Amino acid sequence: SQPSELKVLGSTYATDKWTNATSAILDKTGRNLLHQPSHPLAILKELIFKEFPTFAHYDAITPAVSTYNNFDSLGFAKDHIGRSRSDTYYINEKMLLRTHTSAHQLQLLKAGRQGDRSLLDQAKNSKVAPMNERFLVAADVYRRDEIDASHYPVFHQMEGVCTFSRSEIQSSRSAASSPSSSASPVAQLSDTTVINSENPMQPEHTEEEVAFIVEDMKRTMNNMVVQILTKAVAAKKTAGDADNTQTEFPVRWIDAYFPFTSPSWEMEVLFQGEWLEICGCGVIKQKILDDAGMTDRVGWAFGFGLERLAMLLFGVPDIRLFWSSDPRFTNQFAPGQINTFRAFSRHPPCPKDVSFWLPQGGEFHENDLMDLVREVAGDLVEGVKLVDEFTHPKTGKSSRCYRINYCSMDRNVTHEEINEIQDRVRDQMVQRLGITLR
Ligand code: PHE
Repeated sequence: SQPSELKVLGSTYATDKWTNATSAILDKTGRNLLHQPSHPLAILKELIFKEFPTFAHYDAITPAVSTYNNFDSLGFAKDHIGRSRSDTYYINEKMLLRTHTSAHQLQLLKAGRQGDRSLLDQAKNSKVAPMNERFLVAADVYRRDEIDASHYPVFHQMEGVCTFSRSEIQSSRSAASSPSSSASPVAQLSDTTVINSENPMQPEHTEEEVAFIVEDMKRTMNNMVVQILTKAVAAKKTAGDADNTQTEFPVRWIDAYFPFTSPSWEMEVLFQGEWLEICGCGVIKQKILDDAGMTDRVGWAFGFGLERLAMLLFGVPDIRLFWSSDPRFTNQFAPGQINTFRAFSRHPPCPKDVSFWLPQGGEFHENDLMDLVREVAGDLVEGVKLVDEFTHPKTGKSSRCYRINYCSMDRNVTHEEINEIQDRVRDQMVQRLGITLR
């Protein structure tokens, strides 16, 4: 049933037993939301780019990346859960739809060191940071996931990478320490930075280096977040939505783990009374810089999702709206501006349940059901939820019931059309998931 090859943005790839990228997903690779100047995600992207004038800016790198770049180059273990076919869209064993913008770290660092123009020239401002010693990558990323108002199998991330010469760190550090002090200068990690065995610094680094990198990273990220949230609050005030007059944005740093940074943190910011998880970050694993030929440099990286922040800044209640071409959505925004979305009427939802026996002795992955529903129903599906589950005490057979909530964002749906879609969903479930309808 599977075609022998598939196309991603004009390139053709052979399929194999790893292939699980659906046509519904592949269709998204050409949408280019980040290149529509008045799309909220593109507006946010530009706002962030502006905060980093000395960084190279990338926003047009193809989402088809090698498994090596997405996982191996970053030190993901061979059995890391993120690699599984139930979490990731594979084109084939060697190629996949990137699951995060970190997939471009090694590649772009290396291109800088080797002066590879084919990659360097893809930066929008290639003259600014010609050797990719500092860069941002904004891009669409793909993950198999559940279906609800804040999850969509395609979303967008912004990666930031900043490297420093080790000798410059050394001289700036010794310049800062008093020339009269006889003791060797001891690095002061800021009060908020606790390096512990759970979240260790790397043996390749000196404490001075870690202190320097982490200080710079935290200051940079802090500034970025404050600038953007301040703009958002100001925009709301101008628009007469003076419900939010927040002027300070406290942040906190939660210990985290990523295979490609150490130590690592999750940055959270207090916005409208809630701690908002903004992004992951940390000190780049030296192995990556070494592999790029940059043994003489160290650095930090961050990566964060654009949708959640955009939903907050623009007041967008459902992630599907970003993919809508309804002019009542698209006409509400303008380049460089943060406006509050005025909701148009929510159309009546149409829930349909499907109950079935799990394949006996076989496997059932929930994300296979999610993708199947997306393929058949597209953006008419608002959510898919498990509503009941039981195992028969005598036969040992397991049953599940899922509620599929159908609801269009721009019109009323009829029961006839939804019944037809639901029939196709049920039919495909039997054919492709090995389940038995009840
Ligand atoms: N790539 C990570 C993610 O998608 C985020 C990250 C980027 C963390 C860079 C650390 C450094 O969750």
